[in-house]
Order: sequence, then structure tokens, then C-alpha cells
Amino acid sequence: MSVYEAIQRRRDVRAEFTGELVDDATLWRMLGAAHRAPSVGNSQPWDFVVVRNPATLRNFAEHVAGKRGEFRDALPPERAATFEPIKIEGITESGTGIVVSYDHDRGGPQVLGRTTVPETGIYSAVLAIQNLWLAATAEGVGVGWVSFYDPEFLAELVGLPDGIHPVAWLCVGPVHEFQQVPDLERFGWRAGRPLPDAVHQETYRG
Ligand SMILES: Cc1cc2nc3c(=O)[nH]c(=O)nc-3n(C[C@H](O)[C@H](O)[C@H](O)COP(=O)(O)O)c2cc1C
Repeated sequence: MSVYEAIQRRRDVRAEFTGELVDDATLWRMLGAAHRAPSVGNSQPWDFVVVRNPATLRNFAEHVAGKRGEFRDALPPERAATFEPIKIEGITESGTGIVVSYDHDRGGPQVLGRTTVPETGIYSAVLAIQNLWLAATAEGVGVGWVSFYDPEFLAELVGLPDGIHPVAWLCVGPVHEFQQVPDLERFGWRAGRPLPDAVHQETYRG
């Protein structure tokens, strides 16, 4: 599959997991792709915690369900009605969670390129996630990014040491299909915008 094809096919997957586990060889190829991401000062500030214990998956799924409920309850009624049928995670169905974490101290006190823009560390971890996501797509494996959690809860759940921050919980597993249209668009929550609206010439207003 070409890079462009993988980019086009990639979806945030919630409901299409088959229930089978991704095999270890495939998982390691995906992690290898993630680990080859560019990073500020070559700091490679990421770690990947692979979670398969059913009790841990259930525990996290319950926590996320609570956060989903809090979000729904804060919506105006017509947005709550649109949100209600939208699935926002496949934590137990995927059978594998990957917690991607970020270590700001990785790379020592002088990270080349991070001095003026501290967020470049987090950007690097996110690039690792995107590499993993595209590699998974090429493998026919689905990935769903879950961010409905308290960072402290997730850090405690998977034993992140002090100073190591969770960036994402990724639900990872084989899928029976990739949807062609993002769920948020299919369910009328929010559609994407056309490319020309995002491209500017010379200045932001151009
Ligand atoms: C930082 C980040 C956090 C996200 N958090 C969630 C989430 O908690 N639950 C969810 O269902 N999707 C989540 N998504 C997926 C987005 O909803 C999805 O990428 C977007 O709707 C576009 O759909 P597509 O990825 O299928 O193209 C997240 C994506 C990103 C990049």
C-alpha cells in the first residue's frame, strides 16, 4: 500500500474491531514504525505501554464511560441528541490498548531545537502515534484514539512514573472494514473542511 493510500484509508476506529487480537509480529512492526518517527533533538521522548489485561481494559472503559457521560451532560439538548449514538472508544472490543507516554526529561537538559518551543517534545510523541496509525492501516489493523480520561487516572492505571505523562490511549485491533467517512461526519457531529480553506498564500489572510 502506498503512503497516500494508507493516509486515505486511515480512520479513527471505534465499532469495527473484529474481537481478534493483533498478532505480536504485526504489533511490533507497528511499534517499529512509531519508533522511527522524527523527534526534536532526536530525543525520542515516547514510550509505549501495551495493555491486554481484561481487568485493566474494563477498568479504563468504565472510567472513559464516566467522562463521556460528563461531556454529554454538559451539552445543549440538541447537541446531546446528536452525540448520543456516537461511539467514542473500542477499549474492550479491540483487546489491546497502547498507552503512549511522553518524557520531557528524555534527551537531557539541552534538547536541540526545543528551547524556544517546549511543545516540540509533545509534537514528537504525536508524530510517533501518526506513524503507528498509518502503519496499522497498511496492515489492515484499526486504531482508535481515546482522550476521554483524566491523565492522573491513566498514569496511575498503567504505572507511569512521576514526570512521565500519558499522551494517548490507542485501541488497536484487526477490523472487518474501515469506514469511508469519519464517524463524526457520518453521525452529523462535525464535517471536515475543504483543503482550499486550509491553505493560505503568503499570510494567514491570503
Ligand atoms: C488528539 C486526538 C484525540 C482524539 N480523541 C478521540 C476520542 O476520545 N474518542 C474518539 O472516538 N475519537 C477521538 N479522536 C478521533 C477523531 O474524532 C477523528 O480523528 C476525527 O473525527 C476524524 O476522523 P478520522 O480519524 O476517521 O479521519 C481523537 C483524535 C485525535 C487526533
